Amino acid sequence: MNRKTQTLSAISALSCLLLLPLWITPVRAADEQAREYGEYLAGECTGCHSTNAKAAANTGIPPMADISGWDRETFFVTMRAFQTKERDNPAMVNVAAALDEEQLKALSVYFSSLKPAGDAAETVLLEPFKWSPEIIKTAKSGDPARGRALAEEIGCSGCHGEKGRSEDPAMPNLAGQGAAYMLKQLYDFKQGARQSDFMADPVTTLTVAKMADLAAWYASHDLGAARSSAKGSAAEIMALKGDKARLMIGCNICHGVEGVGRAVEVPALRGQKRDYLLSTMLAFKTGKRRNDHYGRMKFITQTLSKQELEQMADYYGEANEPGAPVKVSAQMTSARAANTAGKKAWGKCKGCHTIKKGGRNKSGPNLFGIFGKPAGKVAKYRYSKQLARKGGQGLVWSEANLDAWLENPKKFIGGRTKMSRKTKSAKDRAAIISYLKEFN
Ligand code: HEC
Ligand code: HEC
Ligand code: HEC
Ligand code: HEC
Repeated sequence: MNRKTQTLSAISALSCLLLLPLWITPVRAADEQAREYGEYLAGECTGCHSTNAKAAANTGIPPMADISGWDRETFFVTMRAFQTKERDNPAMVNVAAALDEEQLKALSVYFSSLKPAGDAAETVLLEPFKWSPEIIKTAKSGDPARGRALAEEIGCSGCHGEKGRSEDPAMPNLAGQGAAYMLKQLYDFKQGARQSDFMADPVTTLTVAKMADLAAWYASHDLGAARSSAKGSAAEIMALKGDKARLMIGCNICHGVEGVGRAVEVPALRGQKRDYLLSTMLAFKTGKRRNDHYGRMKFITQTLSKQELEQMADYYGEANEPGAPVKVSAQMTSARAANTAGKKAWGKCKGCHTIKKGGRNKSGPNLFGIFGKPAGKVAKYRYSKQLARKGGQGLVWSEANLDAWLENPKKFIGGRTKMSRKTKSAKDRAAIISYLKEFN
């Protein structure tokens, strides 16, 4: 190939890549029409709902960013509430009264298609991750002491353990993991390239600088030991040499000697939770996790069989599990915590909530004594506007209200809330509610 045809084919390959997203996104004509109509109507909203979040800060009127990015249904229901005067702000009651159903739907489609609230740093974050000189500089400036304080404030340790080693086999260890790798993962969770029900909330308030601090804190601990694996096992051969016949290089060529990780974005595998290693490899295999820029792990996990992936998880997995004595936190040894199903289901909440009497609020409020309490009234906790408002209007935490809230918080209070976790299983909700009662 001469230089000119090379350049041409590079250009056409590039333009294919650029066009691909357009081509694979099914364009739903009706939606697109509604969106355009909504965009036109929204011109009426920008007078009051400023597009400049800072300028809007003192008016009490939520800025555009704050009414953007909700799901359609929530937006629609909220606007309806102004029509029925269930919400009685006179300015909005007038606006909503002038809109018919088709217009409301169009506005819901349009506003839900916009990026949600965020400060300036967060807006930058919404771009797909790319190593840039600024990010590299920020990554290097991470401070473990600040990270430690942040981890406590947000409640990362509730799930990942105080020093990055958790008791729960589904929660990845962070101790000794590469800082640059962790920063990228946190960014990906926030940006949406990597999805996890567990990680969506904790990252909402993080800027790149905070991510760097958290990463520095967890990276400052020792990596766990791997299990000793029989010499010459299939897994060991795969780790060291790979498999030429299937065009596989050894895992450690990327993941570092003994799987301790490499500079920039290649994570340590040694001493990671076995169950997590397996579940995340399976996620790469099925495409559920696809934040590896170059698709390396997609190729690798699709080439290996499920059984081989299990062998790799066994090979790198933390030395002392499963069956290692599990440390039980003081909260859980409480004499009243006999309700095992509830206790287990509570595992989904404890990262963000304490139920200890007088315990510190984490990213969510302390839930000790929640039954019979008005919503949004735990001391020293900063609630979302909507939940605080509901509390003011007389919402009290009864069993039925808690059930509906846990099933879908946003839907239940008809607006944005800081708690996004939904508990879909009715059985789990019942178990949690009965467990919570023991702490009242
Ligand atoms: C005259 C000023 C004004 C106009 C015009 C206006 N709004 Fe509002 N909007 C407000 C005020 C004030 C609030 C706060 C109401 C409250 O706290 O209950 C609000 C609240 C809202 C909320 C609820 C936010 C929340 O957090 O619950 C939504 C949604 C909303 N407006 C959408 C719109 C849309 C869509 C338009 C254009 C069709 C619009 N607004 C036009 C003043 C206005
Ligand atoms: C409610 C439990 C929970 C909380 C709170 C939580 N995490 Fe996680 N975290 C998880 C789970 C579960 C995963 C694995 C997600 C997956 O399977 O993709 C994870 C994954 C991660 C990863 C990627 C690990 C890897 O090896 O790829 C990092 C980094 C991380 N969390 C850091 C944090 C930080 C920092 C905080 C606090 C700001 C935090 N997490 C709060 C449960 C939690
Ligand atoms: C060509 C380089 C390369 C090779 C070879 C490779 N990996 Fe990876 N691996 C990566 C990169 C890069 C990531 C991180 C991707 C991202 O940004 O999320 C990763 C991520 C992973 C993760 C997720 C770790 C975590 O904490 O979430 C696992 C597990 C993993 N690799 C296992 C393996 C195994 C097992 C092999 C060998 C069979 C292997 N890898 C071979 C580059 C490689
Ligand atoms: C990732 C963090 C997170 C997880 C996990 C989580 N919550 Fe929350 N929770 C919050 C936040 C944040 C709030 C405050 C909501 C607001 O201000 O809108 C909250 C609020 C609440 C409230 C209202 C308290 C009050 O004072 O009005 C209850 C009840 C609650 N959560 C129960 C639970 C239960 C039960 C679980 C487990 C199924 C759970 N939460 C899981 C973060 C979380």
